[in-house]
Amino acid sequence: MNIILIGMMGSGKSTLGRVLADLTDMEFIDTDSLIETSQKMPISQIFDIYGEAFFRGLETEVIGKISRKTASVIALGGGAVMRPQNMILQGFTVYLRCNADILADRIAETNTRPLASKMMELLAERDELYKRYSNFVVDTQESISQVSEQILDEYSNNKRT
Ligand code: S3P
Repeated sequence: MNIILIGMMGSGKSTLGRVLADLTDMEFIDTDSLIETSQKMPISQIFDIYGEAFFRGLETEVIGKISRKTASVIALGGGAVMRPQNMILQGFTVYLRCNADILADRIAETNTRPLASKMMELLAERDELYKRYSNFVVDTQESISQVSEQILDEYSNNKRT
């Protein structure tokens, strides 16, 4: 069964995704990375040149392409939940919840996220959706090893039922 990570930019989806993939021996898929590879440019440049709507189209396309995966750890871009047609992946979905101040600090350290300045607004808009689409909500304030352990415990319980 896939493990699907959702949550805001800066919530640690890629970092945790890699750790979970190592621990479970599953493949790690990051939809942002797939888009960057197919377009041969960073997400920030795709936004600059073609705009957000174009990026959202690519995101939906990439999710469609991985929709048959069954044993992967998949990190979805923070905005994927905004389109119901993106929420087609089957698996155990985890919302990596993180408080707004911490997110703002983490995001301030990089300039690769085109929507960083709207972070608070986006969190307010998306928190409900992240909760709705997840099987498990985990607080990411703890260490990576504690968070990954909690996720894998829930994942194993879920697999058994
Ligand atoms: C976005 C989050 C980014 C990336 C794009 C848009 C968003 O992904 O898909 O910049 O709308 O929140 P991460 O959540 O992996 O940073």
